[in-house]
Amino acid sequence: MSENIISIKNLNITYQSYGRTNVAVRDFDMTIKRGEIVSLVGESGAGKSTVGKSIMGLIDPPGKVSGEILFNEKNLVNMSESKKNRYRWKKISMIFQASLNSLNPTGTIFSDFYSVFRDKLDIKDKKIVNQKIDLLLDSVNLFHEIKKSFPHELSGGMKQRIMIALALSTEPELVIADEPTTALDVVTEYYVLSLLKEKIKALGISMLYITHDLPSVIFMADKIVVMEKGVIVEEGKVRDVITNPSNPYTKMLVQGLVF
Ligand SMILES: Nc1ncnc2c1ncn2[C@@H]1O[C@H](COP(=O)(O)OP(=O)(O)OP(=O)(O)O)[C@@H](O)[C@H]1O
Ligand SMILES: [Mg+2]
Repeated sequence: MSENIISIKNLNITYQSYGRTNVAVRDFDMTIKRGEIVSLVGESGAGKSTVGKSIMGLIDPPGKVSGEILFNEKNLVNMSESKKNRYRWKKISMIFQASLNSLNPTGTIFSDFYSVFRDKLDIKDKKIVNQKIDLLLDSVNLFHEIKKSFPHELSGGMKQRIMIALALSTEPELVIADEPTTALDVVTEYYVLSLLKEKIKALGISMLYITHDLPSVIFMADKIVVMEKGVIVEEGKVRDVITNPSNPYTKMLVQGLVF
């Protein structure tokens, strides 16, 4: 078994918009080792979410993906949808950017969990689902009764912890967290991130952590990959990169740590 859970080679991703081809990701290489947290950083539009979505197999035509995304040595690029569904959500899950709004507004929190268990894992027994939800809620320090709530009744921090519990509910091997805490105040942000990190590390899950926020990278990640306009401009161990940044954008981020 390879030490890498993900090994991306020569990934290129293009979108079509208004009849033009937009190269969102170019010649991208990245590996994530088992149990490792890799942070993907870069300015808005750099292509971070696009990389995350491509791992989940969520770049729809006319968008095009080429290159290799090896997950446990299986290439996810060009894999049939039915085969991809064996991985998507079950082995690889994603907390989407702006996911605070992705809970079903007209359903209870129970219904959000129930649809994951029913649709992704084929578990339909409500008693079993309830037991599983309670364990997941415990793990993100939420009380069990929250299952009966509707999203509008909950704070941002609560909803974000539910999103984390949902992403972990299928016991994936890799979680892609795309700016999972941007809507939260700093104290809540770090509370949620520490819960996420604790769970990830305890379960031996690997994570791609997408963010703009360098302090949180230092807190969360083992490795950092910096992107600019679709290409990697700098990468390395977090400590090495922030003590000796070479790229202008990375330097600016590091300066932001001081002021
Ligand atoms: N569905 C789409 N169709 C067409 N172009 C897209 C699509 N999604 C993203 N893009 C374009 O691809 C590029 C990369 O976008 P992406 O969302 O990956 O950036 P990002 O680094 O996640 O930015 P942000 O930090 O703002 O979330 C941008 O130029 C964006 O406009
Ligand atoms: Mg994004």
